[in-house]
Amino acid sequence: MIDENRPDGMPAEQVLAEIRELRALDRPTHGGRLFAYVYDPAVPGLDALATAAYAESAHVNGLDPTAFPSLLAMENTLVAAAARLLGGGPGTSAPDVVGSVTSGGTESLILAVKTARDARPDIAAPRIVVPASAHAAFAKAAHYLRVELDTVPVDPSTLRPAVAGVAAALRPETVLVACSAPSYAHGVVDPVEQIAEVAAAAGVRCHVDACFGGWTLPYLRRLGLPVPPFDLGVPGVTSISVDLHKYAYAPKGVSVLLHRDPQLRAPQYFAYADWPGYTMINPVISSTRSGGPIAAAYATVRHLGDDGYLELTRRTWAAVCTLTEAVRGADGLRLVAEPESTVVCFTATETGPDLFVLVDELAARGWHTQPQLSYAGLPPSVHLTVTAAVAPRAAEFGPDLADAVAAARAAGPVALPPELRALAGTLAPEGLTGDVVAGLAAGLGLGPGGGLPERMALVNTLLDAAPPALRERLLVEFVSLLQRPAW
Ligand SMILES: Cc1ncc(COP(=O)(O)O)c(C=O)c1O
Repeated sequence: MIDENRPDGMPAEQVLAEIRELRALDRPTHGGRLFAYVYDPAVPGLDALATAAYAESAHVNGLDPTAFPSLLAMENTLVAAAARLLGGGPGTSAPDVVGSVTSGGTESLILAVKTARDARPDIAAPRIVVPASAHAAFAKAAHYLRVELDTVPVDPSTLRPAVAGVAAALRPETVLVACSAPSYAHGVVDPVEQIAEVAAAAGVRCHVDACFGGWTLPYLRRLGLPVPPFDLGVPGVTSISVDLHKYAYAPKGVSVLLHRDPQLRAPQYFAYADWPGYTMINPVISSTRSGGPIAAAYATVRHLGDDGYLELTRRTWAAVCTLTEAVRGADGLRLVAEPESTVVCFTATETGPDLFVLVDELAARGWHTQPQLSYAGLPPSVHLTVTAAVAPRAAEFGPDLADAVAAARAAGPVALPPELRALAGTLAPEGLTGDVVAGLAAGLGLGPGGGLPERMALVNTLLDAAPPALRERLLVEFVSLLQRPAW
């Protein structure tokens, strides 16, 4: 028993009050006005259920399924639920589907790449082919696993890769072709059938990243939307991932990676018996891992059920339509892609407002959107991940958007001081010395103690003016300034 009167120990209520005070600094996770990071179904009682389930299993260790069969059972149930939703299981064309519960989309994708790489020990310098629109987690996987990343450009109007481009990118060293259903940035579903066919013809694995859309596309289809084939029902798709902490509305820390059969999954495992301790056998990156997220996801999925998800998707789509109309009706904005999933992505017309100023103006009105920088001929854009919680608020967005556009127009574009613009255009990443970074951070209002400016338009404009390699270096430097010990 901890003595709460010890001078260095804090009473429970006080600690919680401290956390609540810190949490007040955050963007609002509930209320339907945050369009990234958080997936809120706004179902009464669901948070309490997930938290209670989390607490039941928080101290259970996923390291050893024989010691904690409860976790194994819950994982197997989640894998079956994901597989059923994604075209696998008894009576389907993927009856032998197997899978693992991972900590998130990035881990699922890293493992998909690792599994494909390790299935081909004969290839000394393995490569993967992904559309340029694929999630950055593929680049992270390639970096961690020392696999070369071959990106196929996307058409600026469809935002999809040309299938011929994917075929042309294949090399004898290619171990995996990936595509998205849908892409995070624009919410566009890649031509999965054709890409999988090209991969299969070359004898290469094909992974579908349905981390974002795997739990909504099947329901959108049931609601009558023309969702193209994207799952295990497509011949040639060898693996697929779906995040439960996205549209299954589970708390953070749960994704599922499925393989068409156990043989395809085999290289995913890491087993090690060559040391004096316990024999290690893991299908995922972590060894010790909490049962909390898995139990919370299990409770969420069981509680909402198929009907629940269908209804939540119906609400989400209604919100997508309302937001889309708001963008269409706004002066100087246009959709980057016609919404076909749960993303609304828009940009400014040539005579439109400065997008980064608009993002700040929307934030000032309580709408938290996600700016996306220009890239490879694609304009900067504003990304909205739409969840069911947005539905009751969606009608309020249009008037606020119009208001924010007017304010952004009145404010005019951010004027990057000429020396900063010149720096962004000419500085090589290696030229970012400590002094240059300190000068930039001060110029942008990034405080040494981790303070962020109220408005981010200046930072975004600087990043937008820089090529990707310099953006990466700048971000590392800036974030490193934030991540300092709180003495
Ligand atoms: C399509 C897609 N893949 C992968 C990921 C990475 O997921 P996570 O952030 O859970 O690691 C995301 C996250 O938004 C995503 O949208």
